[in-house]
Amino acid sequence: MTYLTVYSDGETPETLLRTEDPAEIEAALKEIGVRLRHWEVVDGLGDDAGQEEVLEVYRDEVARIVAEEGYTFVDVAQLHPDDSPDWPERAAAARAKFLDEHTHDDDEVRFFVSGSGIFYLHVAGKVHAVLCEAGDLLSVPARTTHWFDMGTSPDFTAIRFFHDDDGWVGDFTGDPIASRIPDYDTIVATRS
Ligand SMILES: [Fe+2]
Repeated sequence: MTYLTVYSDGETPETLLRTEDPAEIEAALKEIGVRLRHWEVVDGLGDDAGQEEVLEVYRDEVARIVAEEGYTFVDVAQLHPDDSPDWPERAAAARAKFLDEHTHDDDEVRFFVSGSGIFYLHVAGKVHAVLCEAGDLLSVPARTTHWFDMGTSPDFTAIRFFHDDDGWVGDFTGDPIASRIPDYDTIVATRS
């Protein structure tokens, strides 16, 4: 279930809204041009499911949205904690990659198969922190300033949709705002 927190973007961010209400979340995101949809979650996919298996299970939904939105490339990104000695390093490196504010020339479209992550959308003086969970399909338009936090113990499987398979690059703004807004671990802890 999606969880939205909205902050002001000043030096001392204030919490403006906190909600799990699907209609309220959809309306708040629509105002900033971000689309959130929901697909029914298919049970029985383990963390060890590979890309082919994940895409096969959601074949019909993927085909439909590809036809509707004209995506040319679809893949699966996933990260799950393991016992290997290099896990903390891999987790930290993956988390750091898009943790600062940036934009892309393409839309950022993700369907969460399992686990969670927070997209922070910095638009019109506010930051919308959208905690996405299994079943959530979020479409962030190209050039929207945003960042993504998977937390200190990343655990998710997500299908990614692209209009351009030239590579996924972030154009970093240099704005340190991400360091002022509560991170994934903090928001998840506040919610429960
Ligand atoms: Fe991004």
